[in-house]
Amino acid sequence: MCGIVGYIGNQDSKEVLLKGLEKLEYRGYDSAGIAVMSNDGVHVFKEKGRIADLRNIVDYDLLANTGIGHTRWATHGVPSQSNAHPHKSNSGRFTLVHNGVIENYELIKSEYLMDVPLQSDTDTEIIVQLVELFVNKGIEVEKAFCQTLELLKGSYAIALLDEQNSDIIYVAKNKSPLLVGIGEDFNVVASDALAMLQVTDRFVEIMDKEIVIVTKTAVTIKTLAGEVIQRDPYRAELDASDIEKGTYPHFMLKEIDEQPLVLRKIIQKYRSENGDLEIDQDIVQAVNEADRIYIIAAGTSYHAGLVGKQFIEKLAAVPVEVHIASEFGYNIPLLSAKPLFIFISQSGETADSRAVLVQIKELGHKALTITNVPGSTLSREADFTLLLHAGPEIAVASTKAYTAQLGVLAILAEVVARSNGREIGFDLSRELGIVANAMEVLCDSKEEVEQMAREYLETTRNAFFIGRGVDYYVCLEGSLKLKEISYIQAEGFAGGELKHGTIALIEDGTPIIALATQESVNLSIRGNVKEVVARGANPCIISMKGLEMADDRFVIPEVHALLTPLISVIPLQLFAYYAALHRNCDVDKPRNLAKSVTVE
Ligand code: F6R
Repeated sequence: MCGIVGYIGNQDSKEVLLKGLEKLEYRGYDSAGIAVMSNDGVHVFKEKGRIADLRNIVDYDLLANTGIGHTRWATHGVPSQSNAHPHKSNSGRFTLVHNGVIENYELIKSEYLMDVPLQSDTDTEIIVQLVELFVNKGIEVEKAFCQTLELLKGSYAIALLDEQNSDIIYVAKNKSPLLVGIGEDFNVVASDALAMLQVTDRFVEIMDKEIVIVTKTAVTIKTLAGEVIQRDPYRAELDASDIEKGTYPHFMLKEIDEQPLVLRKIIQKYRSENGDLEIDQDIVQAVNEADRIYIIAAGTSYHAGLVGKQFIEKLAAVPVEVHIASEFGYNIPLLSAKPLFIFISQSGETADSRAVLVQIKELGHKALTITNVPGSTLSREADFTLLLHAGPEIAVASTKAYTAQLGVLAILAEVVARSNGREIGFDLSRELGIVANAMEVLCDSKEEVEQMAREYLETTRNAFFIGRGVDYYVCLEGSLKLKEISYIQAEGFAGGELKHGTIALIEDGTPIIALATQESVNLSIRGNVKEVVARGANPCIISMKGLEMADDRFVIPEVHALLTPLISVIPLQLFAYYAALHRNCDVDKPRNLAKSVTVE
């Protein structure tokens, strides 16, 4: 995780860096820092906490046209001022920011830096000390930088300043995301284009094991061996307003409300001129050639994968397995003869998923990535990509990306089914349109859901979500949303499973949120509710129109039975939102988390 920025040009760099870091705070917010180069050398300002805390200690009178910055999600070393980036080499000549994890830092310390006192507990500091060590041996800076990188095992996006040369920012990347932004008489560096949209929309992608020499007028990409690489910039198709909250109090609420719009956009993006849903022919062929699909994902995206399995198996009749990315790598199941891997990742940067992608590519298998971020690592490294078109998702808790993932997976399943002449029995385009309308109705039910959150969650320490079939998968997602932003211990269970152990936790008043959107299991899930009510639980049944019964607390509009997860999740998202709000939690930036998890 972590985010880095850099600026070199004619303007004062501090504000560009600070604004950039604010846009990257979703990547981590344990500490933040900037280093700026003025006439009298490099000045470092860093602080535990958020960018707002950093802003309080920056010397705004200092004029500096070159600088780098960092926002941290702690991996090695506790969140503290001394572990905050930037880190300086011991002589003070070099200053560095780093996003990633250096896996062999202990080894490097013992082999090269035994006599070099370190100022922090981070894996990062060894990089800057190594550069200095090599330069002190008489090696020229760029070579010393490359020599250092050759020694590193792990992931990094790095920006380095040399106090003796204010005209250059040295940049390098391996596995962690990094872009260089191109301006008029200035250039910038950022982990994500969002950070630098304030000054440019032209970016150059940097690939693994490349370095970049960034000056205010030139961007020179090289391999570690020194070979120059030509690469054209692209224009980021992002609107700066996409990353503003506007009138919303939180990004999460804005993103929940954007869901109908996103779904309509997806229908439009995946519709051909004749009105049929359409997916790139190569992707359809890859699915058709596969005898089994393996979906790999983490967290919310994994939950989307579970629902996606239903879509693909029920509509396209291709068998699907869904795996947690972080488990798959060292526990690879017996693969079928012709597997196709589908990676679902909002950010396209999740390290656990990427590790699997690297592994299965080595085995010679094909991969499709479903992501919200064009040009992201998982997109670049897979054979095919399907985009979510959800617009930037800033709140750490994923909402619109989840429903977008479901929308795209449903379309993929339908197109594959049609390519095989399978009759699915309904018009998916039309049904998704109905879903988008239902989403709007649910987004308008905020007051009711807020009242529910007050009733059920204001004082509770735990909550259980139960459902059967697809409702169970949505329960997993609903409980993840609740725990990650409100810190209420919440678990999702298959309705029939609770009585096999977990029912022991039910006490007087324990909230049980039950989803009942599936006719085939409507009575059985209600039976499960009765079991817990008999033990004192406080039930909150969320059902679907047409299946509702007298005591239901909330009824969602009727949509096609297979597509209910796209809408039943919305009251659960709002439920979590209001629970967090009422508990004064930081809704958009919950503790200990970061938006894109780029460490394994
Ligand atoms: C939870 C959440 C996470 C992510 C997970 C995977 O709200 O957002 O569980 O879903 O970290 O991230 P991506 O989808 O970017 O691979």
